[in-house]
Amino acid sequence: MPLTGPKIPLIIDCDPGQDDAVMLLLAFASDEFDILGVTTVAGNVPLELTQRNARIISDIAGRSDVRVFAGCDQPLQRKLVTAEYVHGKTGIDGIEIFEPETPLQKTHAVDFIIETLMASDLDSVTLVPTGPLTNIALAMRREPGILPHIKQVVLMGGAVREGGNTTSSAEFNIYVDPHAAQEVLHCGRPVTVVPLDVTHQALVKPGIVDRIRQLDTTVAQATVGMLEFFNRFDSHKYGTEGAPLHDPCTIAWLLKPDLFRGKSCNVEVETDSELTMGHTAVDFWQVTGRPANATWLYDIDKNGFFELLIERLSRYAS
Ligand code: RIB
Ligand code: CA
Repeated sequence: MPLTGPKIPLIIDCDPGQDDAVMLLLAFASDEFDILGVTTVAGNVPLELTQRNARIISDIAGRSDVRVFAGCDQPLQRKLVTAEYVHGKTGIDGIEIFEPETPLQKTHAVDFIIETLMASDLDSVTLVPTGPLTNIALAMRREPGILPHIKQVVLMGGAVREGGNTTSSAEFNIYVDPHAAQEVLHCGRPVTVVPLDVTHQALVKPGIVDRIRQLDTTVAQATVGMLEFFNRFDSHKYGTEGAPLHDPCTIAWLLKPDLFRGKSCNVEVETDSELTMGHTAVDFWQVTGRPANATWLYDIDKNGFFELLIERLSRYAS
């Protein structure tokens, strides 16, 4: 459901990661949102790094007011799998690492999600997970009473036409915690899925990086550094100019849903077979008779996406 009217309350759950970092910079620059908090989860790199990285990005964005929480350091059932081979040892290789001013909140992310949702109006808070779905699923398990307070979930994850990026059939976020993903997909609230089928169209090519560089601000410089590092692995892996910019597509959909095309589908996650663990089985042509439980995005106006991203990044002062 697109954004309309007053600011929309948002909880972002992420595993920075360079693309999570750019997603945060896009969200922080967009006054359509009332960001209630940023929760972090183990994923691209272990939790002690994802929480620190989220606070570093908050500092760089001049948003030390944003509350950052640490959540789960392991998936619900499976052993943690990380992706330093993509993101580097720090998780946000490409920029200088420093001890951030933005404090880490003492409350556990899952407690924060539960407390915040229970205190919010019904059907009011949008959840934007861009890492493994462990925190979100655990909050739903621990307090099902939060569900009516969730307006929608907009998650980055999954793949069907694109195939997997972590195994032959699974995308990273879903692969790391398939049990959490299956539970979130069946939470009964509106879920929009932003899969590789979309993000693999949003390749951050050198021309885009150069346009961001020309913004000539601290934020732009950090974004360029992270993207140039992020590009190296995927460009080689996919033989493309530029890497797919996954996580910012979630925020872009909330800001400009007309840039995307999606379809109401049944989506199930493989949680038994090791061969296809974490695969998102998408009933795109409604052949199974299983009820639709998500809006599966499958197309993006990539030029419009990058114009939006660059315009929002340009809002940061030098
Ligand atoms: O498969 C891509 C997703 O996994 C992105 O969210 C990336 O940051 C990693 O979390
Ligand atoms: Ca991520």
